Amino acid sequence: MKTILHIDSSVRRTDSSTQSYNSISKSFGRYFIELWLNKNHHDKVIYRDLGLNSPSFIDQDWIAAAFTPKGQRSPSQQQTLAESEEYFSELTQADVIVITSPMYNYGMPAVLKAWFDQMLRVNKTFTFDLARGDFPIEPTLSGKTLVLLTSSGEFGFGAGGVREHMNHLTPHIKALAQYLGVDQFYEIGSEYQEFSDERHQASVENAQQDIAALVDQLSE
Ligand SMILES: Cc1cc2nc3c(=O)[nH]c(=O)nc-3n(C[C@H](O)[C@H](O)[C@H](O)COP(=O)(O)O)c2cc1C
Repeated sequence: MKTILHIDSSVRRTDSSTQSYNSISKSFGRYFIELWLNKNHHDKVIYRDLGLNSPSFIDQDWIAAAFTPKGQRSPSQQQTLAESEEYFSELTQADVIVITSPMYNYGMPAVLKAWFDQMLRVNKTFTFDLARGDFPIEPTLSGKTLVLLTSSGEFGFGAGGVREHMNHLTPHIKALAQYLGVDQFYEIGSEYQEFSDERHQASVENAQQDIAALVDQLSE
């Protein structure tokens, strides 16, 4: 039995009767989970909608608490880190992490960045040791698979595309993924949402096909 951590981050919902108002990235996540559970009936899904329930921004007190050794934290510092602890506990249970993300201003939504800021913590998700020289940071977790499902309004963000240099969504999440304990990274996305034309339709259909193929591949 595997555990899937399913994280949504679009601020759009999925229940509007006007289809075009609904989140595309969230629909990809739902499709992935639906197909996954059809094949792997006994697997467990932990779900968070960061778009509807925003993580707190970290602040100075959070940093002070995070850098205080565990046994020396005051009750108030423990409370400050409670949200981070909850996210970390969900992460440790996960074999597969499914993150759905819209492209906002060429990067990830603020709520998703806030989740990463809460999650990536010294002596929790990573250790820091200057004895390691120029690369002192090492993740504490390993063996996880990350599936990133995206939607963007413009196009050409992939390898060799006309806007590849403006894509700060996938490269950023890929760089952070190692600190979630991710060894295998997959990305599937659709583009052209703002054009609402046949290119968008084709892009969504391609993404759905790729999601089905990936579920097959990862379920083997
Ligand atoms: C605040 C905001 C910023 C956006 N910025 C970009 C952008 O920089 N590049 C782009 O291609 N699309 C951009 N878009 C379009 C979204 O990526 C597109 O609507 C996508 O489908 C949103 O994901 P969702 O359908 O899951 O909500 C932006 C949309 C919003 C609401």
